[in-house]
Amino acid sequence: MVFTILKTSMNVTRFVKHVASVVGNKYLHMCQVRNIGKNPLHAVHIDLRQFGTTPSLLKKKKKKHLSLVAEVPDSEWNENEEENILEDPEYDLLTSSAFVPGKIKGQDGVSGVMVLQPWVKWGPRKRLDTNGELLLDEAAALISTLPMYKVVAKEVVHVKSTETKGVFGTGTLERLASEIRSLGSCSTVFVSLDILKSKQVQELESIFRVRVIDRYSVVLGIFHLHAQTLEARMQLALAEIPYMRSRVHGEREKNMLKEREKKLSGSLNKLKGKREILRRGRINSSIPSVAILGYTNAGKTSLIRAITGDKRAEGKDQLFATLDVTAHGGHLPCGVEVVFIDTVGFIQDIPTSLIASFRATLEDAICADVVIHVRDASHPDYRAQGQTVEKTLSSLPLDAKTPVIAVGNKMDIVTPDKKVDLEGALPLSSLTGHGLQEVLMVLEQEILRVTNRHIRIFKLPSGCENIRWLRKVTGISKEEVDPEDSQNMLITVAISEQELAAYRRFIKDSG
Ligand code: GTP
Repeated sequence: MVFTILKTSMNVTRFVKHVASVVGNKYLHMCQVRNIGKNPLHAVHIDLRQFGTTPSLLKKKKKKHLSLVAEVPDSEWNENEEENILEDPEYDLLTSSAFVPGKIKGQDGVSGVMVLQPWVKWGPRKRLDTNGELLLDEAAALISTLPMYKVVAKEVVHVKSTETKGVFGTGTLERLASEIRSLGSCSTVFVSLDILKSKQVQELESIFRVRVIDRYSVVLGIFHLHAQTLEARMQLALAEIPYMRSRVHGEREKNMLKEREKKLSGSLNKLKGKREILRRGRINSSIPSVAILGYTNAGKTSLIRAITGDKRAEGKDQLFATLDVTAHGGHLPCGVEVVFIDTVGFIQDIPTSLIASFRATLEDAICADVVIHVRDASHPDYRAQGQTVEKTLSSLPLDAKTPVIAVGNKMDIVTPDKKVDLEGALPLSSLTGHGLQEVLMVLEQEILRVTNRHIRIFKLPSGCENIRWLRKVTGISKEEVDPEDSQNMLITVAISEQELAAYRRFIKDSG
């Protein structure tokens, strides 16, 4: 019998050396290594079995099934366990037929894409909150976000239902196929539906004779461009699993996906634990936090930059430029220090499993004291975009008491003839700063209310220790010479009950 190590989350080479010394080299070509117990793992259960057999088959055939527990010394465990899960050539090979645009490295030249937006024109399935043209524009924008892809044609295609095998009617399919041929430069057709079934892809590819992709694969491709931190890359790898599952067929591939999903979830939970500690640190520090949420490209990062001046928060004209939660420090006009949290953007018609895997990044937002919902007032789909965000927000376990302030951003490019109903949002331009003071005043009121802070004016001798204490602990919004006594200062602060109690203790202690 020949055995091999199929999967392990550890450094295989180092691990094999160690296990070989325990079980003997001849068994080490086909065996499955499973972690047991909780992390950090110091022991593994090794199933030695024939390549390609599953535990159930193995039971049926009553094949010889060797099993043992190998103790692995601390030094043999790979600290980069997560990296090892991500860099798995076997997984890449097995799933290479399930195409994700932009994921393939070293792609030469630009691929021409025909964008097709199926649109149900009549009947109960017709959407009333948007229209086919706006969805088509968004679909084309998604493609333009991918380097090496270029939109060469786009069209809204009327359909009765999107559930049929060929998606489009026979006549339409023939017409589209001939258009694709006559374009010459088109190598990919993007059917802008959330996820196509594998049969639908096969059917369309056999007629169009070019590659066919859906929204799920396109958004995965865009996320690949932006996921930088380990956590974002792992979340993305996890989000990829349902897509791959819809594309691969063999039992071996499916088992591999299951195994990978388990490992990724386990490692992500570990990372989540680390982030939880950071988050708790932030909560304990009593610095109020403001989560900035909104539709992708609405201007979330630009608003943070306008408020904080943090150059790391740079707005990019790209969809999903922010995949990781990032925190930026800033101050309210009253001097209170605040943390602004940038989050992943929302988008409509995306399989919920894809966004769900990025929910973890929104968990910081759930714990925020105040949420700012940034809306793009210049976008023709202003209303539908707002509804998408509100729908997702309502599915998050957000405290009902958390205030949500809506702002209608990009007002500088809303011309008078394009009058927009902001639906109660505060008008703003993050770019010019117009409306920013009003937004900050409303934000300040909410922060003071939810964190139970009050504006107080203290009359104190200039340069005294008390002023230094207040400056350090609460932040000072105004400092002016007392008009009645030039030896004294009037110090305006926004102070919480706890801070006030601490201040009184400080006065008492310092006599
Ligand atoms: P994602 O992270 O991709 O979800 O985007 P975002 O919501 O953080 O948007 P971002 O701040 O990156 O801005 C997207 C684009 O809109 C950039 O090109 C910005 O310069 C532009 N933008 C942002 N705010 C304004 C504004 O007030 N006026 C105008 N004209 N453009 C703006």
